[in-house]
Amino acid sequence: MSTTENAARVMKSLKDEEWRTLAGVERASTGYGTPDVGRLSRMSRLPQERVRFATADLEKKGLLTRKGRGFALTREGVEAMALKDYVKKDLIYALGAIIAKGKESDVYEALTEEGTVYALKLYKIGRTSFTSVRRSRPREEAAFRSWMTANYDAARREYHALRKLEGLSPSFPRAVAYSRSTVLLEEVSGVRLSQRPVLEDPEGALGAILALMRTAYAQASLVNADLSEYNILTDGASFWLIDWPQAVDSSHPNSTELLAHDIKAVTTFFKRAYGVAADLHKCYEYVSGRSLSLG
Ligand SMILES: Nc1ncnc2c1ncn2[C@@H]1O[C@H](COP(=O)(O)OP(=O)(O)OP(=O)(O)O)[C@@H](O)[C@H]1O
Ligand SMILES: [Mg+2]
Repeated sequence: MSTTENAARVMKSLKDEEWRTLAGVERASTGYGTPDVGRLSRMSRLPQERVRFATADLEKKGLLTRKGRGFALTREGVEAMALKDYVKKDLIYALGAIIAKGKESDVYEALTEEGTVYALKLYKIGRTSFTSVRRSRPREEAAFRSWMTANYDAARREYHALRKLEGLSPSFPRAVAYSRSTVLLEEVSGVRLSQRPVLEDPEGALGAILALMRTAYAQASLVNADLSEYNILTDGASFWLIDWPQAVDSSHPNSTELLAHDIKAVTTFFKRAYGVAADLHKCYEYVSGRSLSLG
């Protein structure tokens, strides 16, 4: 069973005291590090004896891990809290099948009570770096905090970028909500463009993708900054631009280079995979809004 599936399973059995203890550890982790029983007791307003029970149970369930005399959340712990948050807000009801396992995230189906299927993206940036090696306490705590920060930030940033893109085109998946290291997305169909699916009209496809990049830039001031055939999904006729955590605003000092980089990645792929040639300079003028068309 994967960490996420374990988180979804055990979250159903947690008592209020355990949630309060987890919340205390989370609050402490983003601040000073790994709280001990005494601090958790003060933070969660529970007697030390209850905290001791709760931490032992949470440790057994894989949601907490011991760091010296203190405690830290595991990835399961973080994900259980996120899932609980979505369930409490009536956004999702159950975790479904895994859609994709990537380097920086896993994506699962998440189901609503009405039967809608969302894509739940769970970040796992630098997952192993803080558990695999034995480090001194301060270094371990710093590594753990940066692991949490990186993943929480990525989810929040992706959510906000997609909210800016909302309504501009159905080709940007709608972001429903975010929590902790996760973001809840509208599920879109299709395969990655990197799989080189047969396209109805490859030249038109490139034009459509550049037009979407232009829309993101002109109307949401956003450059994806990691666009490539791996972050474009297609069913052969429609396209979806996904994966926006690293998106930058057009006012960012490097936004023009990043935009040029995205355009280069996409056009290079179309040349290699579909034999579609494109003038890089003209593409740039078009996407950045300096010219009205690609011609
Ligand atoms: N909204 C969505 N609807 C359906 N599937 C999605 C959605 N978002 C992501 N996916 C699936 O999850 C995969 C990974 O998503 P994404 O590119 O956003 O994450 P990533 O962290 O960059 O993963 P990787 O390391 O594999 O590139 C996508 O290629 C796609 O198969
Ligand atoms: Mg990706």
